[in-house]
Amino acid sequence: MRFGHFDDAAREYVIETPRTPLPWINYLGSEQFFSLFSHTAGGYSFYRDARMRRLTRYRYNNVPTDVGGRYLYVHDDGDVWTPSWLPVRAELDHFEARHGLGYSRITGERNGISVETLVFVPFGEDAEVQRVRVTNTGTAAKDITLFSFVEFCLWNAYDDQTNYQRNLSIGEVEVEPDGPHGSAIYHRTEYRERRDHYAVFGINTRADGFDTDRDTFVGPYNTLGEADVPRSGRSADSVASGWYPIGSHSVRMSLAPGESRELVIVLGYLENPVDAKWADDAHQVINKERAHALLGRFATVELADAAFARLQEHWTALLSTYRVESTDPKLDRMVNIWNQYQCMVTFNMSRSASYFETGIGRGMGFRDSNQDLLGFVHLIPERARERILDIAATQFPDGSAYHQYQPLTKRGNNDVGSGFNDDPLWLIAGVVGYLKETGDFSILDEAVPFDNDPAQAESLFEHLRRSFDFTATHRGPHGLPLIGRADWNDCLNLNCFSTTPGESFQTTENQAGGSAESLFIAAQFVLYGTQYAELARRRGMADEADRAQAVVDEVHAAVLEHGWDGRWFLRAYDYYGTPVGTDAHDEGKIWIEPQGMAVMAGIGLPAGPDDVDAPALRALDAVEEMLGTPHGLVLQYPAYTTYRIELGEVSTYPPGYKENGGIFCHNNPWVIIAETVVGRGAQAFDHYRRITPAYREEISEIHRLEPYVYAQMIAGKEAVRAGEAKNSWLTGTAAWNFVAVSQHLLGVRPDYDGLVIDPQIGPDVPSWTVTRVARGATYVISVANSGAPGARGRLVVDGTPIEGNLVPYAPAGATVRVQVTV
Ligand code: GLC
Ligand code: GLC
Repeated sequence: MRFGHFDDAAREYVIETPRTPLPWINYLGSEQFFSLFSHTAGGYSFYRDARMRRLTRYRYNNVPTDVGGRYLYVHDDGDVWTPSWLPVRAELDHFEARHGLGYSRITGERNGISVETLVFVPFGEDAEVQRVRVTNTGTAAKDITLFSFVEFCLWNAYDDQTNYQRNLSIGEVEVEPDGPHGSAIYHRTEYRERRDHYAVFGINTRADGFDTDRDTFVGPYNTLGEADVPRSGRSADSVASGWYPIGSHSVRMSLAPGESRELVIVLGYLENPVDAKWADDAHQVINKERAHALLGRFATVELADAAFARLQEHWTALLSTYRVESTDPKLDRMVNIWNQYQCMVTFNMSRSASYFETGIGRGMGFRDSNQDLLGFVHLIPERARERILDIAATQFPDGSAYHQYQPLTKRGNNDVGSGFNDDPLWLIAGVVGYLKETGDFSILDEAVPFDNDPAQAESLFEHLRRSFDFTATHRGPHGLPLIGRADWNDCLNLNCFSTTPGESFQTTENQAGGSAESLFIAAQFVLYGTQYAELARRRGMADEADRAQAVVDEVHAAVLEHGWDGRWFLRAYDYYGTPVGTDAHDEGKIWIEPQGMAVMAGIGLPAGPDDVDAPALRALDAVEEMLGTPHGLVLQYPAYTTYRIELGEVSTYPPGYKENGGIFCHNNPWVIIAETVVGRGAQAFDHYRRITPAYREEISEIHRLEPYVYAQMIAGKEAVRAGEAKNSWLTGTAAWNFVAVSQHLLGVRPDYDGLVIDPQIGPDVPSWTVTRVARGATYVISVANSGAPGARGRLVVDGTPIEGNLVPYAPAGATVRVQVTV
């Protein structure tokens, strides 16, 4: 069952009913100002850091869900309703919410009044703009009043939810009913002291009234859906003093049949220089010059429309780097629109703010951000470059890393600490991804601090060496890498032994004396250690390359010798040296992560077509047999039914959820890529379709989350609610699936010296054309695909057949035509 449909031409998902199973959201903004925006106008806005600079308030865990956002109320002759359906929930004659790239559009109609609101964060602005059109669709004249509404957050979102004894006395606003561009409300809590930033909520007309005090507007015992002021039909002109500051304007309008009125509403964030904070000597009135300039830039609908057009062009340009036209519209819409869009969002947000992440918990993850880069670097390489340098600066001199850092300060986060032994290697992955995309080797010579201390700066290449060496020198009794606090799987905590309820597995003191080793890190080391050695060789450091390759070879051999269980790769050795992920156990027999990663790393590959017993093939067969479900591959099987103190958080989840046998979508693309490595494109594409949202749209009543973006998890086969997704948007799934589909299934992958063209998708997509812009040249790659198992493409480049699958980079501006026959 569907709740909407894709409009590919408009690059939108169109939601046809407000009653989706869960709020389906969008992200507005991709630079400094961000908004979360649900299909019923819920959500909130922040500037750069969802915790430290929260502009508007949102209540997680609310009942009913998703009440709190930017609302418009209509008062029509005593009838009060909201075009976004929430919060009033009056039945609408028509409802539609369209989520597009950086904007959303909600249309609600009732009793002959239609309100269409386009909401977006303009490119280059720190503001959310609502462009509103109210139309009389009926046959009689209408007199209505429209009320806008936002509730301000007192900036620090954590403090805002905890420190009421102070906060309920500090709220302050200024009201400017007759400003240069209409009416405006200024949220200036704490501006009198150390803050030099404020928010403005303006409307581009002289409003008929305003409110800034929530209790006046809503009424102390009402819900937002029963708000007093809209019901009364008239603003109370309330001025907040402490308590709960809000912003609301009212505009009365008389509309003849067919007539429309258009308005622009702006929520903006402004900073003033410390010595220019005030407009008066007594330091009582904010210097509003910057706010006025902002409101001036959106003083008319024409200005707003022009800004919206620029945003659309921006996205068209971004998405032109990789485009596919195939016989499968679902594939095309994921590749061309939604997956790339989600990669932008994960790059910006890391795991901080979504409907499942409150924006007050996590900063940017070291491993997460490095992986996010892999799906983002082709979009805006300059921002990827800056991110790499920021991440690397949070590395410690021994090569290990802070697990997280805060985006506002770019400093490592002491609360979350360190000790996740996979972290260092992801830096190699991110940097190599950047180098292959851009060819910008100068980044390797940038001086980058360790532990954010400029006195300890070394070249970025030296950072990579320390990443490599950290793993090389932290190995256990089987010669395999030590796991530390955990590896990619945050919840595989083999040294924690936690007995205290509520204690964090991520930060608790680890028990010393063990020797827990990770097969995942081993495989990861073979993959990225090899890339490090290759990089050293390209820099003319043959000795270093040989040294590195020798260690990689040792670990490779150790995986085959000590990491093979007979039908699949082991997951780990625990604190005591007991295998984890073995057929010998009743639960947790087989885990997905080492299978995908080992085959990606080239471990256990068949020696030839007859080598059907090669470990890589057996492992991938076991994955499908043991972990396969119609909704994707579960993380391990059977799930743990009891708490295992020697395994940690993984066994805290009920069976089938999250890391305990959930379909943890992030690691499915490793298996997808692995299947392409062994030439089984059909299996790869099958795995891809099971988790990819556009293919799951028809079962939205089971999946329940947005059918246009990946979720971190889909409940596994042993879960009570198998097939139900959770934690949409902010997941490494986005980047990895884009890598899987763009570079391996469709098979166009940037390498150092050219594009490798190596499609492997099986017979279901018989032909397609990829247009790829790389290093300034355009490659038009047309593929005729038999999909036969093991078949590889033969290439004709600009009319000439070539050996192998590397198309050398052409000069910027050139167009290269490639014909591929598989
Ligand atoms: C979450 C974390 C990621 C981790 C994964 C598996 O997605 O953000 O860092 O690798 O869970 O535990
Ligand atoms: C990761 C995991 C999650 C775990 C968290 C840290 O995000 O996905 O299951 O709870 O890390 O506690």
